[in-house]
Amino acid sequence: MRISQQLQVGTANCVESRLSATGEKARSSLDGPLSPRPHAVSIGLHLGAHSSREGIAMICRLVAGLFLLVVANVSAFAQGLPAPSYWKNQRGSEMKISAIDVRGNFVGAYINHAAGFQCQNTPYDLRGRAFRGHIVFVVVWTNSVADCKSKTVWRGRVIGPTILTRWVLTGAGFKPLRGTDIFYQQP
Ligand code: BTN
Repeated sequence: MRISQQLQVGTANCVESRLSATGEKARSSLDGPLSPRPHAVSIGLHLGAHSSREGIAMICRLVAGLFLLVVANVSAFAQGLPAPSYWKNQRGSEMKISAIDVRGNFVGAYINHAAGFQCQNTPYDLRGRAFRGHIVFVVVWTNSVADCKSKTVWRGRVIGPTILTRWVLTGAGFKPLRGTDIFYQQP
């Protein structure tokens, strides 16, 4: 059953329980215009019905909220990348993933500490996408401190607390550089 169908069924159940709480029964197509309605029950329960209707509406909202929370967490799990999370690679560079959405798009910061490269020791914006264990992320090496006129794209796989990647560094005035990085999740 698709999520939208489940929501519809959930809503239908809530409507049904609201009717029964007020002493009304759901009218079917077999009910004629003169079908008796349980007025006495409805009037007798009027005061109590009001508060119980609010209670049921609140429960419905809570259930819907919980449902969305579960769906969001299942999606995050499918992406395989926890957020927030903190990673370091074998060159000592740091990567912070601050947030990820249900589509797997994430943002964070990258601090380059790799020997032999420029743009070191200050944070650069990072953005990327993770889905079903695959990951792609990009850093454009420009911030308020330095502009290296270059960009790195990493592509790879998230395997539990490890991210295995291949990267390409491109920029003005040099041929693309390629390499591999392994990121280890930090506490
Ligand atoms: C530049 O030198 O133009 C910018 C810095 C590039 C740093 C590279 S990106 C791939 C490799 N992995 C790192 O953590 N740092 C280097």
